Amino acid sequence: MIPFNKATFEGKELSHLGQAVIDGHLSGNGPFTRQAESMLEQCHGSGRTLLTTSCTHALEMSARLLDLRPGDEVIVPSFTFVSTASAFMLHGGTPVFVDVRDDTLNIDPDLVEQAITPRTRAICIVHYAGVAATPDRFREIADRHGLMLIEDNAHGLLGTHAGRLLGTFGHLSTLSFHETKNITCGEGGALHVNDLGLLERAEILREKGTDRSRFLRGQVDKYTWVDVGSSWVLSDLLAALLVGQLERFPDIQARRASVWQRYDAALADWAAALGVRSPHIPPQAGHTSHMYFLRLSDLDQRTRFIAHLKERGVMAVFHYQPLHLSAVGVRLGGRSGQCPVSELAGDTLVRLPLHNALTDSDVDRVLSSVTSFRG
Ligand SMILES: Cc1ncc(COP(=O)(O)O)c(C=O)c1O
Repeated sequence: MIPFNKATFEGKELSHLGQAVIDGHLSGNGPFTRQAESMLEQCHGSGRTLLTTSCTHALEMSARLLDLRPGDEVIVPSFTFVSTASAFMLHGGTPVFVDVRDDTLNIDPDLVEQAITPRTRAICIVHYAGVAATPDRFREIADRHGLMLIEDNAHGLLGTHAGRLLGTFGHLSTLSFHETKNITCGEGGALHVNDLGLLERAEILREKGTDRSRFLRGQVDKYTWVDVGSSWVLSDLLAALLVGQLERFPDIQARRASVWQRYDAALADWAAALGVRSPHIPPQAGHTSHMYFLRLSDLDQRTRFIAHLKERGVMAVFHYQPLHLSAVGVRLGGRSGQCPVSELAGDTLVRLPLHNALTDSDVDRVLSSVTSFRG
C-alpha cells in the first residue's frame, strides 16, 4: 500500500537528536529551540517565533492573548481542523462558523464581514493546503473593525500572497509540525508574533504564566507567577529533529512540488472528462504543495473512488468535516445548509498521497489508479 503520508528523516535529524541527548538539555528553551526559532524567523523575514508543543497550543496561546470573556466571538471557517475553533472556545470565546469560498476552500471575506458583530474580537483564517486566503483583505477588515487577525498557518509555511510570506499578515500566526505536515518533529508547532507588543506576554503564557524567559535572559534574578498560562514549551529533543528538517526544507519543498505538479498535469484531462475538480491556485498565491486534492461530485462517488484506489494499493483520504455540523457545532446552533460549500467539500474532497518517500514509480501507480476510475 502506498501510504497517504510518511515522514522522512534523511538529513542530520537523528544526529541532532543524539546531540541533544548527549548534551543533556532535554527540556525546552535549549540550544536547538533557539536555533529552530531563529530559522523560522528567517523563514518569515520579520517578527518573532516561539516554538510550542503543537499548532493547537499556539492557537490556545492566541486565545489567551485575546483575554476572551463570555460571549466574545471569534470568526473561523467551518471547513478546518477542530483546533481552529476549539482553542478559542477552551479559553472563553464562542466560535462563529463562516463558509469557505468555492474556488480555494478558504474562508470567504464577504461572509466574514457579514458575520462581524459588536461581540467579535478576532478573525482566524486558514490558508487551506498552503494556498493564500487573501490575507491582506482580512487584515484590512480586521483593522477597520478593531479586531485581531490570526493566521492558522498550519499548512502554509513559505507560502506567499502577492509575494509576501503567509504568516506575516496577522497580528499572530501559528504553525504545525505534526507528522502530517511538510516538515515535522512528530508533534510540535509555533506561535509567530508579528505584533511585537504581544511578545513578552506570549513568552510568559508559554512558560506556565511565569516570567522564566526574563530570568533565563538574566533580566530578573528569580522568576515568579505573573499570568495564567500553561506548559506550551517544546522539548529540545523535538526541536533538534525540527532543526534537521528545517535544514532540508528547500529540498523537501522542491520534492513535494514536483509530485504536486506531476499529479496536476497528468490528471487534468481525466478530471475534465469526469467533471472532477482539481486545486485552484489564484495567480497571486505561491503555494506550499502541502496537499493534492480532488473534488468529486458527491459522497457516493467519493466513497467508491477511495475504495477503487485502496484496491490498487493507494491510500487516499478525505479531510475536514464541517465544524458547524459537528456535535459541538450543533450545540452552538449549527444547522444543515448554513455553510453549503464546507458541507459539500466535507463529502467530496479526497487527498492523494504526497510525501518525500514517494518514488517515481509510486507516483506512476497513483496516477494509473486514479485515471482507471471511470466515475
Ligand atoms: C488548519 C489546521 N490547524 C491546526 C491543526 C492542528 O495542528 P497540531 O496537530 O499541530 O495541533 C491542524 C492539523 O492538522 C490543521 O490542519
